[in-house]
Amino acid sequence: MRPVLGAHREGKLQDGGFGRRRLFCAVWLAGLFLVLGQPGAAEPARKVILDTDPGTDDAMAILLALNSPELDVQAITVVAGNVLLEQGTENALKVVSLAERCDVPVAAGARRPLAQRLTTAEIWHGANGLGNVEVEPPKCEVDPRFGPDLIIELVHRQPGEITLVPVGPLTNIALAVLKDPSIVALVKEVVLMGGSVSGGNVTPAAEFNIYNDPEAAQIVFAAGWRVTMVGLDVTNRTLFRREHLAELARTQGRQNDFAVGVLTHLVSLSEEHGFGGASMHDPLAVGVTIDRTLVSTQAMRVEVETRGERTRGETVANRQLIVERRSLRGDRYVVTEIERVEPNAEVCIGVEAERFIRLFLSRLRGK
Ligand code: BDR
Ligand code: CA
Repeated sequence: MRPVLGAHREGKLQDGGFGRRRLFCAVWLAGLFLVLGQPGAAEPARKVILDTDPGTDDAMAILLALNSPELDVQAITVVAGNVLLEQGTENALKVVSLAERCDVPVAAGARRPLAQRLTTAEIWHGANGLGNVEVEPPKCEVDPRFGPDLIIELVHRQPGEITLVPVGPLTNIALAVLKDPSIVALVKEVVLMGGSVSGGNVTPAAEFNIYNDPEAAQIVFAAGWRVTMVGLDVTNRTLFRREHLAELARTQGRQNDFAVGVLTHLVSLSEEHGFGGASMHDPLAVGVTIDRTLVSTQAMRVEVETRGERTRGETVANRQLIVERRSLRGDRYVVTEIERVEPNAEVCIGVEAERFIRLFLSRLRGK
């Protein structure tokens, strides 16, 4: 009997232990689901409007956005910049057609900056703005709405939900704010490619997108919304190199092959100029919108220089977030107050460049 009883007891004990373990597991899993959300339920895609001047790296940014499930591209608005507005609009339509995404509206916006002549940059982007890569005529058609009006309309339709991702001169965004300042409070955030706190690329002080419309850029930085600045400080460290190109060339697909063509143009140019790789300016801004942890940021107050003879278009950043106030005492000024200033931008200062390139490649391979 004893052994049987013992076995019975042991069995009961084992059963009890198994039951407790099961209960413990169930509670643990329930907790995990509570923390991480329902099994299989992904984060809702982030609604974005891409404002762009395509442009080689712009085209790569569009493809990255359209192939990333984390993003829901609500519209592409085009601004004059790297190329004239008509060319940029046609290029955007070609890229969206290649991705078979005619459901995404493409609208043309400003054809010139607010207060100066336009500067185009075919020298970097090729005569057609797409690195001279031949692409078949677009199947998708242009949306008849004016780009800034479309931005206003979509932001009002989905208050608090839209992230603006401008990767060209900021003319369209500034026009939208000037026409309807109420959008500032309704936009979720702005993640822009532009500016630099460590020297420019058009002039020693100014980066191309800000240089091309400094007045617009000042309006955008001063508006009061949440801005993340993805500037040259990080994009010039995010280089697409020949080995990355070789990797992408090992797979095929219409978007894949187009990207290989455009990136071949960019990598060759970069090597010619001794950079050792193509800066992934605009794609990185999209990357930051997909995954914020790709960069580290510092809160700063950014003002745009609009008058300097050598510094027009510079993003002047207050990193300490203090200014000294002076008073006139006799024939001199004396610093009398140290005043705190509010930051208006999160400026990207560090980047996991290779991790971003891997993300980019993973989204385009074989597409
Ligand atoms: C920026 O200038 C343009 O040429 C690129 O598309 C990018 O938006 C980099 O300075
Ligand atoms: Ca651009």
